[in-house]
Amino acid sequence: MDVTRAFAELRAAEYGRLDEHGHVYLDYTGGGLYAASQLRRHHAELESNVFGNPHSNNPTSQAMTDRVEHARRYVLDYFNASPDDYLVIFTPNASGALRQVGEAYPFAAGSRYLLTFDNHNSVNGIREFARSAGAVTTYLPLRCGELRLDRAVVSAELAQPAPGVGNLFAFPAQSNFSGVQHPLDLIAEAQASGWDVLLDAAAYVPTNRLDLSRWQPDLVTLSFYKMFGYPTGIGALLMRKPMAARMRRPWFAGGTIQIASVQGDGFYRAPGEAAFEDGTVDYLGLPAVEYGLRHLEGVGIEAVHAHVAVLTRRTLDGLQALRHGNGQPLVRLHGPASDEARGGTVAFNLLDPEGHCYDIRRVEELAGEERISLRTGCFCNPGAGEATYGLTAEQIGSFFHLAEGMSFDDLRAQVQQSFGIEIGAIRASVGIASNAADVDRFVAFVTGFVDRPAGGVGAAAARDTCRAVARDSA
Ligand SMILES: Cc1ncc(COP(=O)(O)O)c(C=O)c1O
Repeated sequence: MDVTRAFAELRAAEYGRLDEHGHVYLDYTGGGLYAASQLRRHHAELESNVFGNPHSNNPTSQAMTDRVEHARRYVLDYFNASPDDYLVIFTPNASGALRQVGEAYPFAAGSRYLLTFDNHNSVNGIREFARSAGAVTTYLPLRCGELRLDRAVVSAELAQPAPGVGNLFAFPAQSNFSGVQHPLDLIAEAQASGWDVLLDAAAYVPTNRLDLSRWQPDLVTLSFYKMFGYPTGIGALLMRKPMAARMRRPWFAGGTIQIASVQGDGFYRAPGEAAFEDGTVDYLGLPAVEYGLRHLEGVGIEAVHAHVAVLTRRTLDGLQALRHGNGQPLVRLHGPASDEARGGTVAFNLLDPEGHCYDIRRVEELAGEERISLRTGCFCNPGAGEATYGLTAEQIGSFFHLAEGMSFDDLRAQVQQSFGIEIGAIRASVGIASNAADVDRFVAFVTGFVDRPAGGVGAAAARDTCRAVARDSA
């Protein structure tokens, strides 16, 4: 069967609710969509079994323990990771996995934490753990335009780990801002110089195969809902066993120990994954992870990748062809215009005939009126934003000394007022259930801005801080 027809049938069979409700969903980088059959399979399993809290000896607990361990093995197999090499630690989400890394990585005085400008805030946040241990954080800049790394700069930094202490290098396999896929051969290069490598794969694995027999980062983080929509609330930290032996958890909790004593003031850690899984895992949700992975395997992750690449090309071509009557482009792209080493995330701004930026929140609002789900803001990736808008450390640093803090929309207004720079982008991302009609409806929507002055489109209604912050949280 030809691929286009296969994906059309998949959409009708598994994601028909999109068309039933007339939705154009273009926020796959925010969250994937689940196939209807994933829910059916999961619910059927729950309906026909009696499952108790795992890790006890009673039959309902044993049944659940077996199921959880089966899901764990399934994750290992899916990523082609050997159980001799990797642990699969279940976490609440990618951020939970990243917090575990920050907390337990053996940062010491003089250690280095090296990371790319292009990173989610949950990777940026590890710098606070690094700082309290006396480690030095260094950011690797992005080249303007395509927002890729400068390999020579990266290699020069990787050649200089601090001697005798832990050195951690972190980068995303795919940017959640620009869609750029950073080169995975950086992993081996860094390791050869003595770095431990943290690969944030959250935005990469929904549409790419991550083969851990080929690429062997010490730490990999992801959220399953980004891969296949359901369940939310489960992520994973894949950790190489030698790395696990060096991690230093700052506390113990139920589930992470073999025994602890009140009067004896001591504890013994549990072996393996358990040492990192605090309290009770989302045990009823875990079988759904397996159904989600089976679903991706059934469709074929390579087929998903190819499908998404075609739709990304269509999106880029559609947007880039748009011109105002005076010949000026409507779309300013942030990231690569080519197909090479990029995923299905497209970030951009819309500029009017005079080069003024349309209010991103208003664009999102107008899209929403047409049932088109886009995302606007900085996508929790401030470094990529600072790089693409050309903000300097002095400019942005001046806003980080306020006792009362500020929201992203406040920052946008202040940066605009102080430096005349519009920050904040619009992001459209395609995925497994997208089709050409979605892209065409989206491009038709954007076409509606041709020859409209930015002021005529207006600004979005003021929002309270909480809402603005929440909108930037993924
Ligand atoms: C690249 C990347 N890393 C980490 C995260 C954090 O994921 P979560 O919010 O599921 O913890 C995201 C979420 O958008 C992401 O895109």
